[in-house]
Amino acid sequence: MIQITTVVGARPNFVKMAPILQEIHRRPNCKARLVHTGQHYSPEMSASFFDELNIPEPDVNLEVGSGTHTVQTAHVMMGLEKDFANRPDLVLVVGDVNSTVAASLVAAKMGIPVAHVEAGLRSFDRRMPEEINRLVTDTLSDYLFASEPAGVKNLLAEGVPQEKIFLVGNVMIDTLLQFRDKAAQSGVLDRLGLKKGGYCVATLHRPSNVDDIEHLARLVDVLSDVAKKLPVVFPVHPRTRERLAAAKVATDSLMLSAPLGYLEFLNLTAEARLVLTDSGGIQEETTILNVPCLTLRENTERPITIEEGTNRLVGVNPEDVRKAAMEALEMPPRIAKAPDLWDGRASARILDVIERTIR
Ligand code: UD1
Repeated sequence: MIQITTVVGARPNFVKMAPILQEIHRRPNCKARLVHTGQHYSPEMSASFFDELNIPEPDVNLEVGSGTHTVQTAHVMMGLEKDFANRPDLVLVVGDVNSTVAASLVAAKMGIPVAHVEAGLRSFDRRMPEEINRLVTDTLSDYLFASEPAGVKNLLAEGVPQEKIFLVGNVMIDTLLQFRDKAAQSGVLDRLGLKKGGYCVATLHRPSNVDDIEHLARLVDVLSDVAKKLPVVFPVHPRTRERLAAAKVATDSLMLSAPLGYLEFLNLTAEARLVLTDSGGIQEETTILNVPCLTLRENTERPITIEEGTNRLVGVNPEDVRKAAMEALEMPPRIAKAPDLWDGRASARILDVIERTIR
């Protein structure tokens, strides 16, 4: 029996881990243990994802909560050191959040093999906490499962041996394809009084966009201008909510909401005319949904969404964002190509590799 301890903590990780857990449960030779670090703890940030995505009740919740990066990472590490004392055959982590790097550090120091799903992505911007998390996690991992060719290329360039790297596709898209039809029944458009193709969706939560309240206020002004053309739905991350309150900026023309559950948000994105975001995962989801996406960042670690998908990197200068949004609303939506291996089978490929090779 292969014992695999999986670690989740923050919102995007739940979406990525759900299909992997299903795949582990499907295999008689594998057994999963699920640790929730509690990095995201509010019901709106976490609880609904578990129900909607059929994620089993975690075996343990470390309840670390918020804190500085050091405090949060350290608390996760302390909790996991105790949990890993049962010595699983493998610790499997996804993405690039603080819980991910904490788990890989603890496992590596205890001599437990680490598998990193979504390995090799690089923004080449070390001011992003996620970039530090990616670099450290990949350095410590024994299995590096890449979602797109750029991930493989980056790892090889960093000297990772080829035999540790596996291009398997995108687990977040496994979830999207599985739940797309169910999401279409969510009723969110009726609830918010929206028409298919008749609104935009905005999300902002990166420290680089929301922590400086003057910058945030300028971006909100741009969104308000977009809202003169089409309604803008803006589900607000708790970090952003705090900063918006501090900025005292007018948001009356936007449709603000609390963070949405997975199915409602997928439904909302799928039917949007345009998405403006600084999230990583949304760049990938819009590519598969064939919805134009403007990414409000200077870089992306997911270049395939630009090369083959619907994503456009527009930077964070408010004038550039405004211009790009107005242009995007004028242009007919571009037809995207689904990247290779973004086909709903990434988790199965991951488990195939693990079953075939683990000693
Ligand atoms: C984290 C990830 C980020 C990911 C994002 C998705 C890291 C470094 N960042 O950022 O990559 O895109 O999750 O959501 O791991 N808060 C609540 N309730 C919660 C959780 C957070 O109110 O359940 C508030 C707290 O004020 C907290 C702040 O949000 O200080 C930030 O939370 P944190 O988990 O530290 O990082 P995120 O910004 O959510």
